[in-house]
Amino acid sequence: MASGLSSPDLYPMSGGDGPNSYFQNSVRQKSIVEATKEMINEAIRDKLALNSPSNAFNIADFGCSVGPNTFIAVQNIIEAVELKYHGNHQNHQSLEFQVFFNDHTNNDFNTLFKNLHHNRSCKFFAAGVPGTFHGRLFPKSSLHFGHSSFALQWLSETLTEVLDTKSPAWNKGSIHCTGFHTEVAEAYSSQFKNDMETFLNARAQELVKGGLLVIIMPALQDGVLLSQSSIGMTYDLLGSCLQNMAKSGIISEEKVEAFNLRIYISPAKDLEALLQRNGFFSVEKIDRITSNMNITTLTAQFLTSQLRAITEELIKGHFGSEIVDAVFELFNIKLSENWFSIIDTKNQKFMDLFIILRRNFSD
Ligand SMILES: C[S@@+](CC[C@H](N)C(=O)[O-])C[C@H]1O[C@@H](n2cnc3c(N)ncnc32)[C@H](O)[C@@H]1O
Repeated sequence: MASGLSSPDLYPMSGGDGPNSYFQNSVRQKSIVEATKEMINEAIRDKLALNSPSNAFNIADFGCSVGPNTFIAVQNIIEAVELKYHGNHQNHQSLEFQVFFNDHTNNDFNTLFKNLHHNRSCKFFAAGVPGTFHGRLFPKSSLHFGHSSFALQWLSETLTEVLDTKSPAWNKGSIHCTGFHTEVAEAYSSQFKNDMETFLNARAQELVKGGLLVIIMPALQDGVLLSQSSIGMTYDLLGSCLQNMAKSGIISEEKVEAFNLRIYISPAKDLEALLQRNGFFSVEKIDRITSNMNITTLTAQFLTSQLRAITEELIKGHFGSEIVDAVFELFNIKLSENWFSIIDTKNQKFMDLFIILRRNFSD
C-alpha cells in the first residue's frame, strides 16, 4: 500500500555534482550532520531497544538528496550499531545492513548512486525509495532506524490561501513566512503541523517497536519571527531580488506575487509540543547541535551558492531557467551590501535541533 508518489511540482535540490550542485554546496548541512556522530552513537547505545535484532538491520534516510551528507549519516549509524551489537562480543551473529535512500521521484538518484561507491568505507546493501515521505513508503514494522536531516521544514504542498489575493492569509509582497503577518503564519504553521503528523504516523507504522527515528532540523528561538533570523533575512533578500527584477520588467510582478517558498521553520517550543503530542513515539532527546563551522570566515559568494543549490530548481520551475544566473548575481551583490547585519551571530536566532524519537512498545 505504498502511497508515496510525489507531486511533479516539487522541486529537488540542484542535481549533479558540478559547481552549482547541492552535492558541492551543502557544506553547512554537512558540518551539522558530522557534528551529530557522537549523539547518534549515544542514541543507539542507550535508546535503541530492539527485542531481537535479526541479522538484517534496516535503515532509511528520508529526504536524502544527492549526497554526500546522507552517506555520512548512514556511516555514523552503521558504525554505532556495529559497536552496540558486536563491540562487546556478546553477540557473534553478524549483522547485515540494508540502507534505503528516500527522496522525491525527481531527485537526482543517479548522482546519489554514482557517488555511493566512493563512500563505501562501511558495507551495506543500498536501495533508492522514490516518493514523498508524507505517506507510507515501507511495509509495516520493517525498519529499525529512520533518519532525516534538513528535510522536514519543506512543506508537502503550496499553500493556496497565501497566494489568493482575496484571502486574509494573502502573503502580499513576500516570498516566505516572515512571521509578521498573523494569518500567513497560521496558514504555514497549520500545514507544517499536518505534515509532521502525517510523517510521524507513517514512520510509526514502518518502524519496529523500540526502533529509533532521528530528526535533524532547524527551529527558531523562542519569540523570534523568521524574518528576524539570519535564515529569514536571506529569504527576504531573495524576495527583494525578484521584486527588483519585476520592477525592471525582466519578470512579471504577478509571477513574483505567485511565488512562495514551501519552507517553514517552526519555533522550537511548538515543534517540541507537536512531537510530545504524537502518541506513537517517546521523545528521548531534543538537543541543540553545535557544529565547528566558523561562520565568521564565510563569504557572500559561498552563501549565495549554498542558497542557489536549494532554491535554483524552484526558481527555474516558476520563472524559467534564463533568469537564474541574474537572480543569484543580484543576490550576491545584495548579500555583500547587507553582510554585517545578516551574518552577525547575534542575528542568527535559529538553531539546528537533534531529536531522538523511540517507537513505543504499545500502539
Ligand atoms: C536540504 S535537502 C537535505 C538533504 C540531506 N538530508 C542533507 O542533510 O544534506 C532536503 C531534501 O529533502 C527532500 N524532501 C523534501 N520534502 C520531501 C518529501 N515530502 N519526501 C521526500 N523527500 C523530500 C528534498 O527533495 C531534498 O532532497
